[in-house]
Amino acid sequence: MIRNGKDSYGLVAIALHWAIALLIISQLVMGTVMVRLANQRLAFDLIQWHKSFGLLTLALVMIRLGWRLANPLPSYPATVSDVETRLARGMHRLLYALMFVLPLSGWALVSVSVLAIPTLAFYLFLVPHLPLGVSEGAEQFWIAVHRQLGYVMMAAVAIHALAALRHHFLLKNGLLVRMLLPSRFREGGSRNSDGA
Ligand code: HEM
Ligand code: HEM
Repeated sequence: MIRNGKDSYGLVAIALHWAIALLIISQLVMGTVMVRLANQRLAFDLIQWHKSFGLLTLALVMIRLGWRLANPLPSYPATVSDVETRLARGMHRLLYALMFVLPLSGWALVSVSVLAIPTLAFYLFLVPHLPLGVSEGAEQFWIAVHRQLGYVMMAAVAIHALAALRHHFLLKNGLLVRMLLPSRFREGGSRNSDGA
């Protein structure tokens, strides 16, 4: 139940999937709103929270990748074609890549900023800047990279979520439910199928 089985996700993979999904979607919304605010004081405060939650997301993603590599990858039911399996796996790899490079590009942009504003994560501890050259040009470059990666993430998440909803409502093959509940809590679930 804790670990993945050959055809089911375990509790840890499920909890990390939804916690990180919630964080990333909130970050996309917060980022988009905060850079367009007229109130500079509020924008500054939101950017501090955005940096803190972004670094927390990066830490959780590292734990998730470790867990993912230490667990079996659940296989798809026979009704899912080879092409669709390859597309889904490709999309998951893209999402993993974005989950790393998006927060890293944010960390890079604050590290090269000429304003040199410290990152005090959750107002608790100082996060060091990345060892990158500080300049106006570098800051503009990393801001553009961070923004474009944000757009790619929005598109990838939308396609991924629509695919999940298609499997649930049109194909009715239980793929969404297995990312919501470990097999023991599902109808017809057994101890053996999730390796518990
Ligand atoms: C899951 C992680 C993250 C997501 C999804 C995310 C997303 C975004 C988005 C969508 C924007 C608005 C871009 C625009 O429309 O111009 C933004 C801006 C920004 N992000 Fe992130 N971000 C993440 C992590 C981070 C991290 C870890 C940092 C720094 C430690 C950071 C620092 C910033 C800053 C400073 C801005 C404002 C840039 C400007 O001045 O235009 N972000 N982010
Ligand atoms: C920022 C948002 C999201 C990210 C980054 C994300 C990422 C991922 C990744 C990387 C996987 C592969 C499994 C793994 O290795 O952990 C996955 C699986 C899955 N996700 Fe998401 N996800 C997000 C949001 C959503 C949403 C909103 C839904 C539902 C509407 C969803 C439904 C699923 C399902 C059903 C699976 C299992 C697919 C399978 O059985 O292979 N995800 N997700």
